[in-house]
Amino acid sequence: MIEDTFKKVFGAAPEVVVRAPGRVNLIGEHTDYNDGFVLPAAIDRYIAFAGRQRNDRKVRAHSIDFQDSVEFSLDDIQKDAAHPWSNYLRGVSKFLQSDGHQLAGADVVFGGDVPREAGLSSSAAVEVAATVFWQRLMGLELDPVYVIKLSRKAENEFVGVPCGIMDQFISALGRQDHALFLDCRDLTYRHVPLRGDVKVVVCNSGVKRALAQSEYEVRLKQCRQAVAQLGTAGLAVGTLREVDSQDLEVHRSALNDLLLKRARHVVTENQRVLEAVEVLEAGDLERFGELMHASHESLREDYEVSSKELDVLVELAWKQPGTLGARMTGAGFGGCTVNLVRADAAEAFAEAVRRGYQDALGLRAEIYVCRASDGALATG
Ligand code: GLA
Repeated sequence: MIEDTFKKVFGAAPEVVVRAPGRVNLIGEHTDYNDGFVLPAAIDRYIAFAGRQRNDRKVRAHSIDFQDSVEFSLDDIQKDAAHPWSNYLRGVSKFLQSDGHQLAGADVVFGGDVPREAGLSSSAAVEVAATVFWQRLMGLELDPVYVIKLSRKAENEFVGVPCGIMDQFISALGRQDHALFLDCRDLTYRHVPLRGDVKVVVCNSGVKRALAQSEYEVRLKQCRQAVAQLGTAGLAVGTLREVDSQDLEVHRSALNDLLLKRARHVVTENQRVLEAVEVLEAGDLERFGELMHASHESLREDYEVSSKELDVLVELAWKQPGTLGARMTGAGFGGCTVNLVRADAAEAFAEAVRRGYQDALGLRAEIYVCRASDGALATG
């Protein structure tokens, strides 16, 4: 399909086709930028890139999703406010070159079925696919963690969105039928099998994440402030990752109520991820679901990043037979919930949640039954 579009736009078959998936996070929210733990899975929705080499230092790019084309020179890469969809590719190209990698030029077409602004990391998928596209087209030898960090750098420093490393990591290194347990401090990871008799069901609230970026920045700052104030009170830590519940109890007077809540979310969420990995490996899905439940409550009450729509979806999910766990996923303020549902109940679940959401809020939820999938760099 992407090959056909390339042919239509550029009149020949592409030399290289790559794809990178979106993701859902099972547990470990707002922990990555605190050097903590996360447990995402790549989903079977992708952004694909198809292209061929040019040798005149030009990039001609066409977006299928935006039905728009643009051209830029590799010798002068600027942010383009008129074609914001092209900035991920521009950023990746710029930083690959500033690291000394030779890019000759390219004709490229890209697009896919990861919903945008839904909290499923379509932008990370574009960045990772763009990096892997250049890697394959130019025959660059790149370490997987370099690909991940460079893709994130494009988002942070070129596009200007301050995200952590989780999304690019899972989009690159997800594995079919597995979640990925990542320690965001040293980037060690391991894949944890997801058993076939449960489904990962994603419910899209349909509400775009309006406050997501500004509130995300506020949370980031609050976490840093909490670390600084704990430091003043004698707890010398570099990040909230190094704080446990007991530390927080002992030093609670160092923090005002708001910062205490923010820090408590991060500290307890890290503990929940560690336990979640343990119980998932032991096959105790009931307990895993309880931890998802507790995660949602902590995000709602302590971190305050949920929304009315997300809460309604999660509460509906909790009532359905066969639901093991349900919580908001991603940055919050709209976007999606993630649900772990027994396979034989997944269809009835989707129907009931869709109806309940419509009845409660008059809104349409899109529901995707997902399969955990290979990342762009999965080697099997
Ligand atoms: C967004 C960011 C991630 C992560 C989540 C919250 O998806 O891109 O890095 O911080 O929010 O867990």
